[in-house]
Amino acid sequence: MTDVPDVHDISETPRVPPSGELRFPPGFLWGTATAAYQIEGAVREDGRTPSIWDTFSHTPGRTAAGDTGDTATDHYHRWREDVALMKDLGYRAYRFSVAWPRVQPTGRGPAVQRGLDFYRALVDELLAAGIQPMATLYHWDLPQELEDAGGWPARDTAYRYAEYARLVGEALGDRVQLWATLNEPWCSAFLGYGSGVHAPGRTEPAAALRAAHHLNLAHGLGATALRSVLPGQGKITVSLNAGVVRPLTGSPADEDAQRRIDALATRVFSDPMLHGSYPESLLADTAGITDWSFVRDGDLATAKHPLDALGLNYYAPTVVSAADGTDGPRRDGHGRSDHSPWTGAEDVAFHQPPGELTAMDWSVDPTGLHELLMRFTREAPGLPLLITENGAAFEDRPGPGGRVHDPERIAYLHGHLTAVHRAMTDGADVRGYFLWSLLDNFEWSFGYAKRFGLIRVDYDTLARIPKTSAHWYSRLARTNVLPDPAAGANPDPDPVAGAGGGPVPAA
Ligand code: FCB
Repeated sequence: MTDVPDVHDISETPRVPPSGELRFPPGFLWGTATAAYQIEGAVREDGRTPSIWDTFSHTPGRTAAGDTGDTATDHYHRWREDVALMKDLGYRAYRFSVAWPRVQPTGRGPAVQRGLDFYRALVDELLAAGIQPMATLYHWDLPQELEDAGGWPARDTAYRYAEYARLVGEALGDRVQLWATLNEPWCSAFLGYGSGVHAPGRTEPAAALRAAHHLNLAHGLGATALRSVLPGQGKITVSLNAGVVRPLTGSPADEDAQRRIDALATRVFSDPMLHGSYPESLLADTAGITDWSFVRDGDLATAKHPLDALGLNYYAPTVVSAADGTDGPRRDGHGRSDHSPWTGAEDVAFHQPPGELTAMDWSVDPTGLHELLMRFTREAPGLPLLITENGAAFEDRPGPGGRVHDPERIAYLHGHLTAVHRAMTDGADVRGYFLWSLLDNFEWSFGYAKRFGLIRVDYDTLARIPKTSAHWYSRLARTNVLPDPAAGANPDPDPVAGAGGGPVPAA
């Protein structure tokens, strides 16, 4: 068994100093996040078989410019360089995902050792660099064979997932302490099977609800399987993109729209996982689509596996109203489709909040992150929280040598981290923050057009070039003090060397 070096144990409750300075507690996990299909490439190497995202991205018209993850950032071959960059920048944690089709290509049977070897080597390199690894077991890349057998609407997929979770836990549990079962099951269920803007691209409302339930079941079965093979210090969480949904007005009709979308965006997962039930109102609102008879006795108790932390991904709030009868474009920020992902609430109207937008047309509103953290502080007292994704795409404008000065991203991060600090002062038990993303990467149906990275990837040469924000975040990770947004304005001419050496700037 590999010794786990000095990594932070999230079971210690942090204390926020009372002073006005935006200082975070010692041991706060400053990380970045990525996902396998978005960065790895090497889709046909070492026994990997196609996932639903390979099939989807290779289907004409599914992604912007027909982009695929065939090469992505070539992380599968450049992972040592990527870990070295994180180390030089002083980042303390790294959330990556394991590609199911690399480890268990058909979704059944024994693990492929070459697939596991890749992740073992990656984790060992991270640990040697003093970076705490966090493994997400499922970030949307279902083996195609399992989709051909029915995909997430089929109950068996949940059992296949649990088997896969056990295989990965057995292989990496001696060196990975922090685990996420699923990333954003909402996207898997409602974008994958409802609006069809994500793989596998199906548009079947009843199947979307079945998928949601089987993802809840998979989470519980997978967490149980993982727990049975992890050493005692293993910590299990899930990453939910719990929505922050606001009514356009205080009218009862708009508040009802808010309630319905909140149930479909958040409570359909958080209620089973935290409380072992579905909201009665959700069952009633969707009664015309399904009778939910796919929920079997014991499923909800399984889904309510005791978690060690709750992972939350936050980007932007959503504003909704009761339908106004006009047939305008849907502005829910999840891509274009004639089919709604909001199964049973297709009539709800979505509105663009006023103010600044990112390149995704998502509004910049840090108050939503504070609201989200306080909601789960109230709803799940005593459960530590991790922000497992937050970040922004902007139209980066490279200068000489491909360098990017990105004050908008720094301002976004500064605003959101101020909100995190405020939530902690208000009593939220937040243990870490994983910035999306380490690298520019394949942004699903948007392809390579949207850049979320702290590190720019030149897709012609695959060179990595840290943006100004990478240095700004480095200062935060090294000092625990939120730097002034202007602090990152003048990066060292040699970004990586500059980040690794030199004095730590005063707060
Ligand atoms: C989240 C996904 C992540 C990335 C960001 C921008 O929904 O989990 O893979 O695409 O959005």
